[in-house]
Amino acid sequence: MNVKDVLKKHNQQHLLPYLENLQGEELDAFVKQVEQVDWNVVEQWKHPEDLSGRGRVQPISGLTLEQIRRNGATYRKVGEQALKSGKVGAVLLAGGQGTRLGFDAPKGAYDVGISHPIFIFERLLNNLSEVCSQCKCYVPLFVMTSVVNNDDTQKFLAQHNYFGYPKEYIRFFVQDITPVVDLDGKLMLESKSRLAFSPNGNGGWYASLVKANVLSDFPSVEWLNVFSVDNVLQRIADPVFVGATLQSGANCGAKVVRKCDPYEKVGVLCLEDGVASVIEYYEMTEEMANQRDDDGNLAYSFGVILNYLFNVNKLQQTAGKRIPLHVVKKKVPVLQPDGSLFKPQTENAYKFETLVVDMVRLMETCLPFEVAREREFAPVKNKTGVDSVESARELLKFNGVTL
Ligand code: UTP
Repeated sequence: MNVKDVLKKHNQQHLLPYLENLQGEELDAFVKQVEQVDWNVVEQWKHPEDLSGRGRVQPISGLTLEQIRRNGATYRKVGEQALKSGKVGAVLLAGGQGTRLGFDAPKGAYDVGISHPIFIFERLLNNLSEVCSQCKCYVPLFVMTSVVNNDDTQKFLAQHNYFGYPKEYIRFFVQDITPVVDLDGKLMLESKSRLAFSPNGNGGWYASLVKANVLSDFPSVEWLNVFSVDNVLQRIADPVFVGATLQSGANCGAKVVRKCDPYEKVGVLCLEDGVASVIEYYEMTEEMANQRDDDGNLAYSFGVILNYLFNVNKLQQTAGKRIPLHVVKKKVPVLQPDGSLFKPQTENAYKFETLVVDMVRLMETCLPFEVAREREFAPVKNKTGVDSVESARELLKFNGVTL
């Protein structure tokens, strides 16, 4: 089917006049973009609220701080052995757009310091280096970027000499993108020959990693510790967490913090139809939010902090299985008939994302591993207020970091 017929078939005739005006390389590039559109994804704009229904949800048991303290030495030994044998890699999810922070450069390049620069990437790489010097080995680090920030991320890290981490243990890969549509489901243009795209969410990390074929540089890797860019207290490749997960026999481990109140806006680990799963705060009923266990603790209290350890074999087995597609409203600059780019003040488009939390269900078994919130969780999402630069600075100070 030629490109005009494809556009007509999918109700995208508004692009035909632009197509008529393209020639040569521009035309070829445009045709290629249309050919790559996954129409099954794009047509989900009609069902923005239609996430998969939930099964029977029950509390999950996990390792508490006290249990970890008691068995920590054993877990550490197992974890350090795994790290030394090259079985563990780390995946830094840095493809997000950080819109809430309102910072144009990659989020990892944000400076949280006061009297001297402390970049988020610096915090993360220093934390990883600390583990490496304890274990006397290096952990391969796979950094996921997006087309929007890949060049800037690579340039920034190179300029800072990777904050002392050996370059030969770092690989970059770029996450996939999906076209965005306007609120009537029409593909949008960012220039006269280019559709508007957006990164496809952090749930695409494994597919993009495989596509980039960088894991094969480290064939001994059996476990991947996936973590977000924006937690400045992130413990990466933590040997105790690795050891506990390996010993548990689960296909994945998740670092969790205890919810501070029944209504905290955080996803919680649970069992759904007997398999591990994360349910979001807005999916919890009043009764679930307040349910207590025999000890009087909240029954659904393991809040996830985007730090998971995934078994690579299991990831391979589940590759290609669908996870829910989230349709999210977004402000997207759009081409005007006069050729100028209009930057909207309100959301004018839908983007399509899959999320790493939804991968837990595919893993079937997951060990919740409790960590102390004030020691390991300082997310930088906003400039001020909750989960902000301000709150992260306080937590850094609390952990002895001179700002
Ligand atoms: P967030 O959900 O906080 O999204 O990402 P964000 O895009 O960074 O920020 P906002 O919502 O626009 O303010 C959680 C983690 O997932 C990564 C982010 O870089 C962060 O580490 N992520 C998010 C990706 O790698 N790719 C994506 O498409 C989205």
